[in-house]
Amino acid sequence: MGQYTATQRKNVRILLVGDAGVGKTSLILSLVSEEYPEEVPPRAEEITIPANVTPEQVPTSIVDFSAVEQTEEALAAEINKAHVVCIVYAVDDDDSLDRITSHWLPLVRAKCNPSLDGEGDAEAEAEGDTQCESVRKPIVLVGNKIDLIDYSTMDSVLAIMEDYPEIESCVECSAKTLHNISEMFYYAQKAVLHPTSPLYMMEEQELTSACKKSLVRIFKICDIDGDNLLNDYELNLFQRRCFNTPLQPQILDEVKVVIQKNVPDGIYNDAVTLKGFLFLHCLFIQRGRNETTWAVLRRFGYNDQLEMCQEYLRPPLKIPPGSSTELSHRGQQFLIAVFERYDRDGDGALSPEEHKMLFSTCPAAPWSYSTDIRKSCPINETTGWVTLHGWLCRWTLMTLIDVVKTTEYLAYLGFNVHENDSQLAAIHVTRERRIDLAKRQSSRSVYKCHVIGPKGSGKTGMCRGFLVEDMHKLIGKEFKTNVVHCINSVQVYGQEKHLILRDIDVRHALDPLQPQEVNCDVACLVFDSSNPRSFEYVARIYIKYYAESKIPVMIVGTKCDMDERRQDYLMQPAEFCEKYKLLPPHLFSLKTNKKELYTKLATMAAFPRFQAAWILFYKHRLVQLWESAHLRQFGLMTEDPKLWWKAGLGVAAATMLGFIVLKTISAAGAHSR
Ligand code: GTP
Ligand code: MG
Repeated sequence: MGQYTATQRKNVRILLVGDAGVGKTSLILSLVSEEYPEEVPPRAEEITIPANVTPEQVPTSIVDFSAVEQTEEALAAEINKAHVVCIVYAVDDDDSLDRITSHWLPLVRAKCNPSLDGEGDAEAEAEGDTQCESVRKPIVLVGNKIDLIDYSTMDSVLAIMEDYPEIESCVECSAKTLHNISEMFYYAQKAVLHPTSPLYMMEEQELTSACKKSLVRIFKICDIDGDNLLNDYELNLFQRRCFNTPLQPQILDEVKVVIQKNVPDGIYNDAVTLKGFLFLHCLFIQRGRNETTWAVLRRFGYNDQLEMCQEYLRPPLKIPPGSSTELSHRGQQFLIAVFERYDRDGDGALSPEEHKMLFSTCPAAPWSYSTDIRKSCPINETTGWVTLHGWLCRWTLMTLIDVVKTTEYLAYLGFNVHENDSQLAAIHVTRERRIDLAKRQSSRSVYKCHVIGPKGSGKTGMCRGFLVEDMHKLIGKEFKTNVVHCINSVQVYGQEKHLILRDIDVRHALDPLQPQEVNCDVACLVFDSSNPRSFEYVARIYIKYYAESKIPVMIVGTKCDMDERRQDYLMQPAEFCEKYKLLPPHLFSLKTNKKELYTKLATMAAFPRFQAAWILFYKHRLVQLWESAHLRQFGLMTEDPKLWWKAGLGVAAATMLGFIVLKTISAAGAHSR
């Protein structure tokens, strides 16, 4: 079985009860010694069979009961401790058979559910007595001494089974001839490890609704081409993922014949329909092959209560402080495949309907279609639908800010099964930021930029501008939905980097920023260049939070298409930037539709602490120097060559970087003049 399977119980405890003399002790001793003991003690010692000699490979304890040696309280305690109770009767003794219903079954029920025991146990229940699970203890009925009769008691036993759904199975055996002895213990083990009752309702002869729901989800995940049918290829893959063996062609054909015979619409176009798939599992269970259905369910992450278990949804992931989380190549490939599978019309975008279908294997979509993904990621601007690029952007965002949710949703979407690996293979944990800083180059591909500025300064427009082709459309727009993040990708020296712009909502000018609002890979402080009262806020924020930090900061003056106003502050923005060794203010307008701001922000995040070097270039007016002598060897240009080298060391793209930064500075410089 695959490695990434929900784990089943790690041990099994079997208790044998029944009237005196039915052969409980003999059964245990026969199993252990493989011969019939003529003389037996009243009660066998508790024995534990090691995992490797049991059919299900779990250590199994077997516990005897003797009314002579044990009190009623001791029995109650043993019933509670047991995972399964074998009620033994002697097939030649009708009284012992009658006592199953008149005594033993009610006793087991009462002892493992004290509220049924009569006297004021409601309290214990209210306290949530964990020893007594509310689910009924599985029971196996065992008819011993079959060597003494030449008929069967099965008819009477089957009648009892109908009335007591907790009875998992029944078996006739003989301690004397060893007939069915190992089978009996195997059934008991199976009743614990692969119980029927969560899967199947005996009375209705139907799958339980929880089981059906899980199997429907599994069917959808296995239906790779999304045609609501499992064809041979998909069935084979399913078989291999669940059982690690290929499906023999003749077996596949036989299975299809059986389905076709029982449910005519179970097969369509030589492929299995959902109805056929459900029928097949019903059949497995009816034939006592629960373990097959359980193996499938566990492979898809379900625990014994048919819930997706926590370890499967959220495998532990170690993220050192200062590291971040991104999608690995495999993660991206998987998400691309999922997208393509659900882009039924092949238009390269997910319509709301397709988006809904895609997440139908999950409890709910991880985000809203209309107010989240459509507003925070690039979309197809004609239809307004989510493109593959936007889809990957949204996952990149979730992986950075809430990686646990990413692992959960990857599991819901079937990553573990399709990729035959834990969903941690879809996550890349980046190296710590301090190493990036030491090397002056980041190995990440996703950066977080916080956009901070006074109300009305144009933060949201600037963030949304990142997502659209034509920023003109955003001018004068009221942004109603409050989208916190906008994410898109930009090229930084030929490499695709994702930049997340987080719109930091400032309520009042004097409200302090929280540390999580301050910390980011690059800060973008925004003021309205047409409003004289705007820059002061930005200046205060810079001095209070960023002047001492290592976070690169860019100051942006928005609405630069309008008349630039002198700021009511003790310094003008350009002077301020020069004083604090910042890049000169970047002037931005939705009207000019220029995207270089975003590239600049991503570049600053990707090459942390380069800013100091950039400022040096600026101060020493290296612009001209560079332009006149750019063919001369890089590094010989400065007045202090060591500074160049320091700045350039460890960065493959240093020359390129220098060039681009200088160009932007000269452009900005020209503007502010
Ligand atoms: P208590 O400990 O008194 O509750 O009885 P028990 O259920 O442990 O029964 P025990 O194993 O002591 O067996 C009772 C009698 O039945 C013994 O004489 C056994 O030899 C006999 N016996 C047990 N199993 C079989 C069997 O399969 N066939 C026959 N013919 N006799 C059996
Ligand atoms: Mg005994």
